[in-house]
Amino acid sequence: MKRSMKLAPVAMLGAVALVLTACSSSTTGGTATGPAASGLAGRGPITYVQGKDNSNVVKPLVATWNAAHPKEQVTFKEQTDSADQQHDDLVQNFQAKNPNYDVMSVDVIWTAEFAAKGWLQPLKGKQALDTSAMLPSTVKTATYNKVMYAAPVTTDGGILYYRKDLVPTPPKTWDEMMGMCTIAKAKKIGCYAGQFFKYEGLTVNSAEAVNSAGGTILGTDGKATVTSADAKKGLQNLATAYANGNIPKEAITFKEEEGRLAFENGKLMFLRNWPYVYNLAKTDGSSKVKETFAMAPLPGVTGPGASSLGGHNAAISVYSKNKATAADFLKFLTSTAQQKAFVSQGSLAPILTALYDDPALAAKSPYLPVLKTSLENAVPRPVTPFYPAVSKAVQDNAYGAIKGEVPVDKAMANMQKAIQAAGAQ
Ligand code: GLC
Repeated sequence: MKRSMKLAPVAMLGAVALVLTACSSSTTGGTATGPAASGLAGRGPITYVQGKDNSNVVKPLVATWNAAHPKEQVTFKEQTDSADQQHDDLVQNFQAKNPNYDVMSVDVIWTAEFAAKGWLQPLKGKQALDTSAMLPSTVKTATYNKVMYAAPVTTDGGILYYRKDLVPTPPKTWDEMMGMCTIAKAKKIGCYAGQFFKYEGLTVNSAEAVNSAGGTILGTDGKATVTSADAKKGLQNLATAYANGNIPKEAITFKEEEGRLAFENGKLMFLRNWPYVYNLAKTDGSSKVKETFAMAPLPGVTGPGASSLGGHNAAISVYSKNKATAADFLKFLTSTAQQKAFVSQGSLAPILTALYDDPALAAKSPYLPVLKTSLENAVPRPVTPFYPAVSKAVQDNAYGAIKGEVPVDKAMANMQKAIQAAGAQ
């Protein structure tokens, strides 16, 4: 039976588009003109560009593809593990019209920006994908102005990793979690960390704090709403925890990997991170928590909190010369076999709805039900071609507030102004 995953109610979301001015584009309305009209039938070697393959899933998939496509070999160009550096590398190569960046992994938040700039090949005609088996939320992240510009590859939802040997029942609310920090203190380990370094991960974590406290980043009219009492409460939760040590001081330098390693080393009781951590924490030779960790939904006010919706889509550059091969590679990435491999090899979140209810997969991947809850409650980040500026407005101000350099009230007033200014560029 086909089940469609429920989406978070619109009222909760920051998912509304900021009011925009039009960008010039070579793919306006999805009709291919300029570079988007060339290379469509091209076949031959291509390069796939993606951030660091922490879960070691890309190399085996490229090997599988290459074994079956001797004349259309894929070369994997691996970027760093920082979302911001990946973004900037793609922008530079698009600006240089590099034909060797054929297919790239596009974070869900970049689709609007790259599509509006005319850098992504619209997936129409021979490039079109059948999306009927995909989670609707993932298809949405690959769509801009009603045109699909990328193939959903993996989705992502925030999860609370916790030490079940120290806390047999995970906290359901933020306050409950903070109450448990005395246990971590007694053990002389950190209580809670997420991603608090100043980069995209901080936007994710700040938005989650705001949404989980009942606030929003943007209202349904596309205007910033971060000065509401609930939004302030969300950021205050992080600032208070940092000030009183429930968030350890070193967490201000954490991106995903630093937090994962601290947790695997037994230095943290609670960690907010993405599903990829599950397999590594279970299998890494150096992981000290293999048998002692479990996963739960992020905590909210009275029940599960709201994760930011993450994930990555694969897009074809308009400058690629081998777009027919690239389109086949996109289909390969979304195939059931490949999606299952993402789950079993990397504990990544698949984009095919049916896999969340696949008993054989669930038996091997016990994290799937928790992940499903996370995705059902996930809130997209703002959809706008000016996303980098919006994200910067969130990060810069949240960072000052968490470090205690700017009072939350003032930080949110500044964030409000900066988000509005970003949308009006
Ligand atoms: C993960 C998410 C992505 C997010 C990034 C932030 O890779 O999938 O959407 O932007 O983390 O660091």
